[in-house]
Amino acid sequence: MEKMTVNYENKPCYDVIIDDSLASFPKELIREGSRICIVTDDNVANACLDEVKKEIFRDALVFCIKPGEESKNLDTVKDIYAFLVKNDFSRTDMLVALGGGVVGDITGFVAATFKRGISFIQIPTSLLAMVDSSVGGKTGVDFDSYKNMIGAFYMPKHVYINVSFLKKLPDREFFNGFAEAMKSALIRDGIYYSWMIDKMYEICEKDPETLIHLINGSVSIKKTVVEQDPKEESLRMILNFGHTVGHAIEKYKGFELKHGECVALGCVCAAFISWKRDYLTMEEYYEIRDMFVPFNLPISTEMLDIDEVMNIMQNDKKVIDGKLRFILLKKIGKAVIENDVTEDEIRASLNEINFDEAW
Ligand code: GLY
Repeated sequence: MEKMTVNYENKPCYDVIIDDSLASFPKELIREGSRICIVTDDNVANACLDEVKKEIFRDALVFCIKPGEESKNLDTVKDIYAFLVKNDFSRTDMLVALGGGVVGDITGFVAATFKRGISFIQIPTSLLAMVDSSVGGKTGVDFDSYKNMIGAFYMPKHVYINVSFLKKLPDREFFNGFAEAMKSALIRDGIYYSWMIDKMYEICEKDPETLIHLINGSVSIKKTVVEQDPKEESLRMILNFGHTVGHAIEKYKGFELKHGECVALGCVCAAFISWKRDYLTMEEYYEIRDMFVPFNLPISTEMLDIDEVMNIMQNDKKVIDGKLRFILLKKIGKAVIENDVTEDEIRASLNEINFDEAW
């Protein structure tokens, strides 16, 4: 088991526990007499809900949403508010987000806003939510086809990560989350990155001890970043490494590729630009690129309309005063935020990942 405390505004705020069962869940978090509503989705409910109710929240109410990004909107939020009102939830009651990033973001947003804020616990069930989205207090929903347009920073009361849930995750979903772990290593920790190369086999085999170490590495990085910059005014932007291009490809492909798959492509582009600026060596660039392959993540994609991807990128919220904010690597384990990346550099990087049959 691993345990760490995340500080917020220089004070201890919440613990993150990473274990391979539900046995170490701190039951003292459940206040005598307070009511609990587990928010989850249909897939997670089938895979994990019975176990979670039996082991921890016997009497909890359950609100189930449809799986996927399509649910991440204000209509779902309204449905959850209505359910809580109907069941007389008060500010002393608590929500539990049992699921991946979508469930965590919606539940956190409801918790932040219902009766001006009630407690919530994150129990992430996807690798992506375990290594990234369950920690750091970002909550919210999509609006008008813009991702995470409405939201709030609102800290959970606790994050409980049980790696045994990952055994139930389809492989594509597992590797989707791995992209964010790889991103963490690249921006902040070269030793963790080398460890991933060494432990490639154990990670793919979902060995529990290795998974605890993997998640602990990413969460430790996220902790140090969000403690210094909880509201993404500067440093926290480095967590968006690979996301500037990644989000644009995600939208361009109509969400047919998973978020982590697009982040992998975005990381390749950002590493390519870093190489061309002589921040990375050619060998480092190719090593980073090829590191995604054993984890079933793409390093190229077919027939990108580069003009269209550029267009989407320019309409993204990362554009300030017409300039794209880009996270590059000064070296493996050290990210920098740069505002002077040119359109030509980005186009060249998109060309690099654009698989053209003519070749
Ligand atoms: N997922 C990036 C962040 O939490 O800031």
